Amino acid sequence: MSRSGRAGERRSGTPPGRGAGAAGVRERVEREFAERFGGAPTFVVRAPGRVNLIGEHTDYNDGFVLPIAIDREVRIALRPRGDGRVVLRSLDYDETLVLEPAAVRRTGAGWGEYVKGVAWALREAGLTAAGWEGVMAGDVPRGAGLSSSAAVELAALRAFAAAGGLPWRPLEMARLGQRVENAWIGVASGIMDQTVIAAGRAGHALLIDCRSLAIEPAPLPDGAAVVVLDTGTRRGLVGSAYNDRRRQCEAAARHFGVAALRDVALDGFRERAAGLDPVTHRRARHVVTENDRTLRAADAMRRGDVAGLGRLMDASHASLRDDFQVTNAALDAIVEIARAQPGCHGARMTGAGFGGCAVALVDADAAAAFVAEVGRRYAALTGLRAECYVCQAADGASVEKGPGA
Ligand code: GLA
Repeated sequence: MSRSGRAGERRSGTPPGRGAGAAGVRERVEREFAERFGGAPTFVVRAPGRVNLIGEHTDYNDGFVLPIAIDREVRIALRPRGDGRVVLRSLDYDETLVLEPAAVRRTGAGWGEYVKGVAWALREAGLTAAGWEGVMAGDVPRGAGLSSSAAVELAALRAFAAAGGLPWRPLEMARLGQRVENAWIGVASGIMDQTVIAAGRAGHALLIDCRSLAIEPAPLPDGAAVVVLDTGTRRGLVGSAYNDRRRQCEAAARHFGVAALRDVALDGFRERAAGLDPVTHRRARHVVTENDRTLRAADAMRRGDVAGLGRLMDASHASLRDDFQVTNAALDAIVEIARAQPGCHGARMTGAGFGGCAVALVDADAAAAFVAEVGRRYAALTGLRAECYVCQAADGASVEKGPGA
């Protein structure tokens, strides 16, 4: 999640809601690389966006999440440089960033801060931030709750790792990406986005224990499609509302005398919640019940129980709307519309909330009609244009082209 919501912004190229497709983005970065730097890139790296199926606002409570990496991504074509500098052209912003990894300074907001933050975090961790020149482009919609900024962070980490010959340890890289978000950008986000973007598995969601970072891949049920429903609403400066929620959760954990709300079970919550003020009570109830739903959702996936998974997604949305209070009218409307369509098993907001995207679980053979009808009804009800599309679960960040790749 970005404070300004600007990373990954697309200014030109593909229309919003339609991915350029992996081939399209790769072709663009390679072509531009040849024009700008001459010759072919040594490496092409990629990092996907993500959609969370369930487990929202649980990661920073040491809890459980169940996201997928998606087939929208950020790509960088690059070649190592001998002078130690990084020169990076962003096609989406039509801007070039030049930096000395050993002397980065925060100069404002925008996509370049994520790359600078990565150079800083690598060096702070005692790792080499080698120089390289490259071209970056992507098709992850920005500020939509699909983690466009974490995709930029992980793509940049992948680029530095390739250029400097660093071993790629996904969970270590995920932690560095989170450090960029927390310490360089200033948003106290959890570890979900970076973990699934670093370690995602095609065709699977990842059940992530955000305390231990233990990961269990859970296969997407056969015959079911994951549909992203982008409401077209965006809320800038999500950071402050997000950080407020986080503080409320920490206050609730103190009330229960535990390290994090992950340590409060449903029974314990019922027995000991008296004494919490009404707002903190609601926030904690969301987290405690959402952890329980997420574990049950992973179980439903193991059993191939699409209907059960859908019901848990519906309950998650209600809890985010009523208890955690991070939906908006557009998200509530699109979720209601989605659920009323044939073949829809469940729908909920996804990501930090306050605007952006919902996600629905739909019978694959009903998905095309679902997408058309949700868009039509949403426009009729709200006057807004939704971008709805089926997405595939993709692999995490990788080197696509390079010596040995
Ligand atoms: C944003 C944050 C994540 C997570 C979600 C809410 O995406 O970056 O760490 O907290 O919100 O589940």
